[in-house]
Amino acid sequence: MIEFKNVSKKYKNGTHALENINLKVNDGEFVYIMGPTGSGKSTLIKLLDGEEVPTGGSVMVNGINVGRLRKSKVYLYRRKIGVVFQDYRLLPEKTVFENVAYALEVLDMPTDKIKKRTREVLKLVDLSDKSNVKPRELSGGQQQRVAIARAIAKRPTILIADEPTGNLDPSMTDEMITLLEKINKEEKTTLLVVTHNDVMVEYHPKRTIRIDSGHIVNDGSRTMSFYKQNFSEVKGEAKKEEKPQTETGETVTDQVTADQPAEKMSPEQEAAAKVALENARHAKEDTGKIFYDERPINERHLSKEEAQDVAISEITQQLDAIRDLAEGGRD
Ligand SMILES: Nc1ncnc2c1ncn2[C@@H]1O[C@H](COP(=O)(O)OP(=O)(O)O)[C@@H](O)[C@H]1O
Ligand SMILES: [Mg+2]
Repeated sequence: MIEFKNVSKKYKNGTHALENINLKVNDGEFVYIMGPTGSGKSTLIKLLDGEEVPTGGSVMVNGINVGRLRKSKVYLYRRKIGVVFQDYRLLPEKTVFENVAYALEVLDMPTDKIKKRTREVLKLVDLSDKSNVKPRELSGGQQQRVAIARAIAKRPTILIADEPTGNLDPSMTDEMITLLEKINKEEKTTLLVVTHNDVMVEYHPKRTIRIDSGHIVNDGSRTMSFYKQNFSEVKGEAKKEEKPQTETGETVTDQVTADQPAEKMSPEQEAAAKVALENARHAKEDTGKIFYDERPINERHLSKEEAQDVAISEITQQLDAIRDLAEGGRD
């Protein structure tokens, strides 16, 4: 189990990267960590793998106080933590097989066991047929999978992936998250996935920890039904009867425009709201294109209604922003 108790991290230059973080992740959980650049996501991960030491509170992993580990013991602790870096960090002169096997050689594992486990994880990430090629001969998605195979070879209890879809083609997103889900299930590994990828979070909803300015601002799972509910609340229809969910995306967008509580806003806020709605419309168009029109190509089995749900969630986020703006303006 991972437990952060009142954890703070202040860097030497005075930056408070994290403040009073309390967090529990149980064994076998799959958790997304989201937040803007500079919000403290990487610091959280560095505290977890012992690269950084908290300036307040404690980081406990399976009963070990990570911040208190002696420098000479950190490497032993790290054997239980797999990290997939955003830039892969593969060894260019080694083959795919050698890249993975190397992670086990440093653990002094017998050669036959190394070979067996390497074959096993390459099969898991579906790269058995690429064993003997060098990383540069692989696509970005394949290199990422080698990095994942290497990270899980030593059977870590926790796997941390920093932006696993950050460098990938959008059509690869589903494949990548499905692989991580497989690892979570088959290897019983606890997964912490840092991501900016809303699509991933929408279609594979899981507990999502949102960080902003060093604080946890949200911790929970957001599903389509959450968005639908939230959407009607924003429109002031929360108390009405359940409305049928058969309306088209166009109708929804139009209603949003019609139902804007514009009288509560200043002219600046209203202008900002218009921009936000315009963005939301584009978001809807894009989403419709990627997730509906191109559906046969990337094999996402989404109905038109599901594709529109994504669009609605985009609009909801925009509306949240507008509401925040309106509330902020009143203070
Ligand atoms: N080694 C460091 N020294 C000083 N400040 C740092 C260091 N690493 C990160 N920071 C600062 O801490 C804050 C959080 O950074 P980070 O954890 O990297 O955020 P994220 O990964 O969410 O982008 C930022 O303001 C960043 O500039
Ligand atoms: Mg980061």
